[in-house]
Amino acid sequence: ASTLGAAAQQSGRYFGTAIAGGRLGDSAYTTIASREFDMVTAENEMKIDATEPQRGRFVFTSGDRIHDWAVRNGKRVRGHTLLWHPGQPAWLQSLSGSALRQAMIDHVNGVMAHYKGKIYAWDVVNEAFADGNSGGRRDSNFQRTGNDWIEVAFRTARAADPAAKLCYNDYNIDNWTWAKTQAVYNMVRDFKQRGVPIDCVGLQAHFSSGNPYNGNFRTTISSFAALGVDVQITELDVQGASPTTYAAVTNDCLAVPRCTGITVWGVRDSDSWRSSDAPLLFGGDGSKKPAYTAVLNAL
Ligand code: XIL
Repeated sequence: ASTLGAAAQQSGRYFGTAIAGGRLGDSAYTTIASREFDMVTAENEMKIDATEPQRGRFVFTSGDRIHDWAVRNGKRVRGHTLLWHPGQPAWLQSLSGSALRQAMIDHVNGVMAHYKGKIYAWDVVNEAFADGNSGGRRDSNFQRTGNDWIEVAFRTARAADPAAKLCYNDYNIDNWTWAKTQAVYNMVRDFKQRGVPIDCVGLQAHFSSGNPYNGNFRTTISSFAALGVDVQITELDVQGASPTTYAAVTNDCLAVPRCTGITVWGVRDSDSWRSSDAPLLFGGDGSKKPAYTAVLNAL
């Protein structure tokens, strides 16, 4: 196969990218994106501040633009993300307790109803665990409504769109030996044991000097998969775009049957949220970098 998406499909997987709505008018960008990828994540346009800027007033213009572009170009869409601690509109930040809990439920219902049947997988909850060695939850307004907020969100999401896979997504859970990885693993295991609906875990896989790729990444993927969930690499980027690291990540996913796909967090280095790291597969001029070839050959 000569594109990432087609190569991934040879093993029943997908290869996706984050799409920024503001770039859809750039034909150099859309040419690469439409040619290479078969899954799309809206980089920001389906987040809380974008979709519910005022309480109960849902706005889907930007999210729909990306969803429409994806469907027109034959791609599926990952929904990102229903509940996240940053990117909260002021009205949400001002709530607490049962009012916040209700607003959280209403948000999940409102967004999922709009996209019902149109999303491959939703990142229902993003980044709810603390960094470092505590092994605990991150302090956030949602967390302060009670530890059960994550399972309430997943139960709400299942009822809202039974066709969508429901994912928990986080960063710094790539290294199997880290406390944060173990904490998320324990939550997923508990959810599976108690019948809380969860279908997938998203490993963001933002690799840098602070979170270097480690050979135990494959153990992380296979350990989550063994709990009975799919695993997806959801926001891959690698500081410096080492071809070796990109190939290793790809091989790690391919080695685990339940690793269903890989998404890179942007198209060209110039589109990246950390463009100074030059972390992606295409240069700013649209050229294929050595990391691109490494991934294509590994798929
Ligand atoms: C980032 C976007 O890339 C930026 O454009 C935005 O300013 C902030 O969010 N983890 C996530 C993504 O789950 O949503 C984040 O995306 C990157 C880290």
